[in-house]
Amino acid sequence: MSEISQAQPDYNYKVVRQFTIMTVIWGIVGMSLGVFIAAQLFAPALNFDIPWLTYSRLRPLHTNAVIFAFGGCALFATSYYIVQRTSQVRLFSDKLAAFTFWGWQAVIVAAVLTLPFGYTTSKEYAELEWPIDILIALVWVAYIINFFGTLAIRKVSHIYVANWFLGAFMLTVAVLHIGNSMALPVSFMKSYSMYAGAVDAMMQWWYGHNAVGFFLTAGFLGMMYYFVPKQAGRPVYSYRLSVVHFWALISLYIWAGPHHLHYTALPDWTQSLGMVMSVILFVPSWGGMINGIMTLSGAWHKLRTDPVLRFLIVSLSFYGMSTFEGPMMAIKTVNALSHYTDWTVGHVHSGALGWVAMVSIGSIYHLIPHLFGQKAMYSTKLVNVHFWFATIGVVLYIVAMWMSGVLQGLMWRAVNADGTLTYSFVESLEASKPFYVVRFVGGCFVVAGMLIMAYNTYRTVSAPKGSLVPEPAAA
Ligand code: HEM
Ligand code: HEM
Repeated sequence: MSEISQAQPDYNYKVVRQFTIMTVIWGIVGMSLGVFIAAQLFAPALNFDIPWLTYSRLRPLHTNAVIFAFGGCALFATSYYIVQRTSQVRLFSDKLAAFTFWGWQAVIVAAVLTLPFGYTTSKEYAELEWPIDILIALVWVAYIINFFGTLAIRKVSHIYVANWFLGAFMLTVAVLHIGNSMALPVSFMKSYSMYAGAVDAMMQWWYGHNAVGFFLTAGFLGMMYYFVPKQAGRPVYSYRLSVVHFWALISLYIWAGPHHLHYTALPDWTQSLGMVMSVILFVPSWGGMINGIMTLSGAWHKLRTDPVLRFLIVSLSFYGMSTFEGPMMAIKTVNALSHYTDWTVGHVHSGALGWVAMVSIGSIYHLIPHLFGQKAMYSTKLVNVHFWFATIGVVLYIVAMWMSGVLQGLMWRAVNADGTLTYSFVESLEASKPFYVVRFVGGCFVVAGMLIMAYNTYRTVSAPKGSLVPEPAAA
């Protein structure tokens, strides 16, 4: 990594600190909402007959809170940190940085206020109504100007690969958001999509899949390429592989969206194209995962004592798992079984919780001491406890969803000799119930881990500067 260790430029850490703290806070809010809706799925009375507590309104609030509030703040924090450190300059503009922070928090608060009240475009992961969409676009453009502006004034000629991934994530998300949100407003909080029928569906899943590919993957790969080598104290395993990984990933992801629309009114050839591109996508995904994990060559022993590194490496294992599973689910015959079932939800959380949340948590644990003038977190033991809570929680979640998903798929397709269905839908729901309870327990583990993180963060931030030094971690 081309960093100069002499006198450090006067970096803008204020905005990084702000986004870092909000990552922890929104993480707790978003994941607690996940636990709440998970409970509603086996105890529906938990909506207390109040419209704004219904599952249908809280579910999008959960997805928006975890993806855009928790994941978004983690991406802002780490990208602002990485671009300054690897460019050896202060951010291009402090004012734009402050605008992105307050603007993004305003977007999140607007989501928290509007979604439970039922204002929605009904497009998944793009539910927010048009005035909020405009604010998102403004914040995002400011973010892009600040990021690329910083790269433009960098003091190091080389652009480190993490910035390539972060830059691609920012540019693509701008195109996706603006493209998919094109709508005709009919009142202050109501609009209609500019697209109709199958074209609308195709736009939506071009957006939806690339929200996964760029928001939930490329940005976090940028994070991985900076923090894994940093935490391991080793250079990235293969720089050449990282460049191949970058170009292959960004050129393939954009074609895979139709795998969300198998067996629909979308032309058959588009579905097949989406399927083939998804299967090929396995290759760069695993190339990236191997590159991250192999960065530990010669430093494997560090995993025994460093729970932050464990977060990062285990997140990569979940990345590998979900990017093996995804291409498989994209095959039409497999999708015929998995689609509409909990298998998809399990896949989502092995990616989103196992990969995205864990790589963010590991990176934030790396960042906090650096940002608040300490040499270590208040308690490494608590980081370790958090690691185990998170891992156990994710495994319980995804295993439960695999089992209930495959069970649902098989029950729905089972037919008697006379051609009638063997099971009613309600029977498949009853069979799923125990797995919903297990998922809830897994979610409780994850949230408990986040609360431990909040306590550890509070103690680190409030300790006298320079007073915390590394302690040996419990295995
Ligand atoms: C404590 C942790 C979490 C719990 C208990 C939880 C729970 C849930 C539940 C119950 C659903 C609805 C599933 C359904 O409709 O059948 C859901 C959906 C979803 N969650 Fe989570 N979640 C958690 C963390 C996260 C995180 C960290 C992310 C992303 C970074 C995430 C992203 C999503 C997405 C994208 C969906 C929609 C899935 C789909 O449409 O197939 N969740 N979650
Ligand atoms: C090579 C990589 C991947 C491929 C080919 C892939 C493929 C798929 C497929 C086929 C589905 C099911 C579509 C359906 O039946 O409706 C799906 C759903 C989903 N995947 Fe992946 N996946 C990949 C990686 C990931 C990763 C890493 C994440 C998260 C970080 C993720 C998040 C999601 C989400 C959120 C959905 C649910 C969308 C929805 O219906 O709301 N995927 N993916």
